[in-house]
Amino acid sequence: SIVYLDGKWLPSDEAKVSVFDRGFLFGDGVYEVVMVYNRQPFRLEQHLTRLFRSLDQTGIPNPLGMHEWRFIIERLIDQNEGDQQSIYIQVTRGVTAQRSHTYPTGLVPTVFASSQSISLQKKDTRRNPPCSAITLEDLRWARGDIKSTSLLGSVLLKKMVAESGKDEGILYRDGIVTEGTASNVFIVEKQQIITPCVSDFLLTGITRDFIFELAARYQMVLLEEDISLSRLQEADEIWMSSSTAEIRAITELDGLPVGTGKIGPVWTRMAKLYQKHKSELF
Ligand code: PDD
Repeated sequence: SIVYLDGKWLPSDEAKVSVFDRGFLFGDGVYEVVMVYNRQPFRLEQHLTRLFRSLDQTGIPNPLGMHEWRFIIERLIDQNEGDQQSIYIQVTRGVTAQRSHTYPTGLVPTVFASSQSISLQKKDTRRNPPCSAITLEDLRWARGDIKSTSLLGSVLLKKMVAESGKDEGILYRDGIVTEGTASNVFIVEKQQIITPCVSDFLLTGITRDFIFELAARYQMVLLEEDISLSRLQEADEIWMSSSTAEIRAITELDGLPVGTGKIGPVWTRMAKLYQKHKSELF
């Protein structure tokens, strides 16, 4: 595939970064994952706005303007195959002369963007099958609101999930649900949809925001509230959301059925609305 690296368009195996790039040495960078449906980026503006916020929060200067970012993403989609793609965008603080935790001013951020085409089988109606989850203590850092490339916490948690043979980990801090290892979490209680409040401990998902818009448009009740572990266990439905997973029903939690153990009616409705509106720019 063709990737973008610091102003150049290259075959992926020719794109090279310095070993003194702070992204490599410290995970000192931020990123975004953007879906492409029918060759159109989904919610690009929102993803770029969040990228700018992550840059701002980490003090990495934004190397490009909105128009340049848009141009790069559009060109990346053009140069790669597949009607459905997932775009990866990463900005690191840049390259230094030697390894040091503190960084000098005036570094030039490293900008990388690539695209992966999404397989045909994932496009069919079984695209979002129900999945299983385990609960895990959230051992990541306290700034989950920044989409940072420092993902060791998530990697270790995902490893525990993989070893359990389940699909996703639902994380909690002091007994309160934060999010999934790479997704946001929702529950349904008597037709009402609940998701954790925005905080420093979780990422405000673009998919989460989209679900809020759909709920408002179709008069479905969606509230932001603390979700304790016992509330999670007693929920009628549990969902997870992310750009790549879209919205998925979790029908098994810690080896026990969620509600009836089958896909719930509120998820079914929301998932249909999601598919209906995801190619629409509203
Ligand atoms: N992850 N929370 C975390 C920790 C995430 O990593 C993600 C997304 C989300 C959902 O955000 P969004 O709806 O904007 O995709 C929530 C991406 C897909 C990833 O790391 O690959």
